[in-house]
Amino acid sequence: MFQLPRIMGHRGAAGVAPENTLAGLRIAAEQGMQWIEFDVMLSGDGVPVLFHDDSLKRTTGCDALMADTPLADLRKLEAGAWFAPEFAGEPIPTLEEALRFLLDRGLSPNVEIKPSRGKAVPTGRAVAEVMAGFWPLERIPALICAFDREGLAVARDLAPKVPRAFLMRRPHRDWRAAAKTLKCSTIHIGGRWLSARVARDIKDAGYGLAAFTVNDPAHAKRLIARGVDCIITDVPGKIAAGL
Ligand code: G3P
Ligand code: MG
Repeated sequence: MFQLPRIMGHRGAAGVAPENTLAGLRIAAEQGMQWIEFDVMLSGDGVPVLFHDDSLKRTTGCDALMADTPLADLRKLEAGAWFAPEFAGEPIPTLEEALRFLLDRGLSPNVEIKPSRGKAVPTGRAVAEVMAGFWPLERIPALICAFDREGLAVARDLAPKVPRAFLMRRPHRDWRAAAKTLKCSTIHIGGRWLSARVARDIKDAGYGLAAFTVNDPAHAKRLIARGVDCIITDVPGKIAAGL
């Protein structure tokens, strides 16, 4: 039976370090996280990299789309200075670099398939292939998660042994059928929209339950009282101290 941790870093530790960077993974680990969530998109030439937005603008300043930019050009960008000057020079990591970083430290990845528009299947395939080929599941647990059902279906078919999480900002009416078809182990929902009744239904149906992105310890406590197993947070140290 798949076991979620009590707390998981979000995009690394996006409240205290630039999101989806190795610095973020390092700081999440320093704040005690055994599990870390990050987002994976495909570069213009199809390499899975850690990134959240379709556009490169917000976190690198570059006015271009991820889907149009090959890895060689992404390597010239920096993804840390926008957050704080001490992170200047942080690159956009590849999925493989992030996994090696975690593997070296015995930490678990929660890899989100985060497709650019129209890229759910190739992004799901790339994540599934890297995880199936690379990650030693028998030693260190891992998760693949997605909002996108097509992406999750590809992961189910190509990396069936890697547990999957079904993401929903608000609960969908058909969550039971979707989670069953996609053979998910856990369901992750926006904490703001998770009612006590839905939390109970999900737990009664036998799924692990995580809430994102919860940065207030009092809110985290209320969610845990409703049956939430795992808090996904930008500020892992603050949540850990407050629980
Ligand atoms: O793991 C859930 C969370 O990461 C989903 O939201 O937009 O931050 O990827 P987002
Ligand atoms: Mg995410």
